[in-house]
Amino acid sequence: MSNVTVIGGNASGDLARRLARKLKAGFVGSSLRVFPDGEGKITLLGKPKSGKIIVVNSTYPPVDSNLVYTLALISKASEYSNQITAVIPYLGYARQDREFLAGEVVTLSVIADLLKAAGASKMIVVDIHSQMGMKHFKIPIRNVSAIEELARYFKKMHLKDPLVVSPDSGGAKRAEIFAGFYGTKYIALKKQRDRRNGKVRIITSELDDVRGRDLILVDDMISTGGSIVKATEFLKKQKCRRVFVACTHALLIGDAERKMRKAGVTQIVSTNTIPRKTAAVDVAGIIAKAI
Ligand code: R5P
Repeated sequence: MSNVTVIGGNASGDLARRLARKLKAGFVGSSLRVFPDGEGKITLLGKPKSGKIIVVNSTYPPVDSNLVYTLALISKASEYSNQITAVIPYLGYARQDREFLAGEVVTLSVIADLLKAAGASKMIVVDIHSQMGMKHFKIPIRNVSAIEELARYFKKMHLKDPLVVSPDSGGAKRAEIFAGFYGTKYIALKKQRDRRNGKVRIITSELDDVRGRDLILVDDMISTGGSIVKATEFLKKQKCRRVFVACTHALLIGDAERKMRKAGVTQIVSTNTIPRKTAAVDVAGIIAKAI
């Protein structure tokens, strides 16, 4: 794609470079300098070609800063082209897609408007938290899924009598799709989250089928690890064998990883929507296909 330039933001430089290689497109990096007062200064490290521009930047923590940097890059890109695809592999605020409690701001909707105002004409995200989230965008938005790639990764592992498990009923469809690609069955636990303090508990009362089996807990994201810890503790009590975790976005806030391992998780596998040492699956190929 000779008339395409991929611009890599501070949060997704490596993924942007991989994407440019897959697309055989030009690549322009960027630099970020953060001033003592916290303001960031973004500089493009080259000149995009005339034609389509793809700006790649995830908005993982610091979410608000990375969001502002992404908007700044899109705005700068719009000086060179009016065909700008914003690829935001991990879209922060995607869980704030509706008013759960009276008075809450649906911040995702504000962000959707900001991205358009900055100059984005199309959007690509990876495994957005909910379909409802996509409705807030007034420009075409495409959600690509890493589930098949994750399932393919797990297929290469030697698991004993594997079963796919969703930690909550909201993720049942995701688990079903993963299990379909893997070629096994799935179950979904029932989880309850306190909307005020965020604490979760598993309310599934009984469960057979997991004793002695290797389990793959599938989720879209891991933030504090609370959902996975509760699910793992529950499943371990049911005498399962090993617990593996497959997720697209490994935020892994604070000591999330340590807590999950302590609860009995053997391995966490995520994608490079967020660069972490758990990121064994590359999403550049599926994004390239969507482009
Ligand atoms: C919730 O519905 C999501 O799919 C994740 O399960 C959740 O956001 C993970 O958060 P945490 O790791 O803090 O439990």
